[in-house]
Amino acid sequence: MLELTGVCASYGSVPAISGVNIQIGVGEAVGLLGANGAGKSTTLRAISSLVHLTSGKITIDGIDLASLPPHKIPELGIAHVPEGRQVFPEMTVQENLEIGAYVPKAKAERSRTLDLVYSIFPRLADRKRQLAGTMSGGEQQMLAVGRGLMLKPRLLMLDEPSLGLAPVMTDVTFEKIQEIHKMGTAILLVEQNVSRALSLVQRAYVLESGRVIMHGTSAELANNKQVQAAYLGI
Ligand SMILES: Nc1ncnc2c1ncn2[C@@H]1O[C@H](COP(=O)(O)OP(=O)(O)O)[C@@H](O)[C@H]1O
Ligand SMILES: [Mg+2]
Repeated sequence: MLELTGVCASYGSVPAISGVNIQIGVGEAVGLLGANGAGKSTTLRAISSLVHLTSGKITIDGIDLASLPPHKIPELGIAHVPEGRQVFPEMTVQENLEIGAYVPKAKAERSRTLDLVYSIFPRLADRKRQLAGTMSGGEQQMLAVGRGLMLKPRLLMLDEPSLGLAPVMTDVTFEKIQEIHKMGTAILLVEQNVSRALSLVQRAYVLESGRVIMHGTSAELANNKQVQAAYLGI
């Protein structure tokens, strides 16, 4: 469904990712792992057309994304939950969610999708009139994921959803992501928490200094000596 071929992107003259090849099938859960600065967020931004490709190609169902303006990407069913959540603090929980359904197709089904999001995240339903900025970090992360779901995406891209969360909230967040995947949504999960990520995804790519240095099934990566030494503390 989504394919990156030889994707390179840079900020000014400094390359951030080089020659990245990634494929995601319909309904798959795929990890994008690596240390700080490896190029994970840049890869998601490239898919969302938020950074310019210096070379390479990204296609969804064979359509070259370069031929489309950035606002068309969500219309193709790709939702991007950015690093650091970025909810609108002065708006209520429900207003934040409603804004997520901004493409025409999602807007038409907004109230039904809202019910679905509230059933996945009952905590958001309890807090629907609360200002988003007054919620805890974990609650804001749920809200950011819920807002992504309001697009009714085929692919949900999550950038470090566990960053800065207490362990118990990290557990809840990963359970919810698993639940969303089981409903049939493909997931592209960016994580520094490699062991947790490998327990959720089916396959993963490891980025280092802007390049994919390894990819394989979760079991292959979890048993790989290099991955164990660099990311799993074994
Ligand atoms: N807005 C930016 N301007 C300049 N350089 C950036 C910017 N964002 C990221 N970079 C650089 O690009 C590289 C990849 O960053 P990023 O994709 O954010 O990595 P990750 O998400 O894996 O931590 C890093 O060297 C980082 O310093
Ligand atoms: Mg990042």
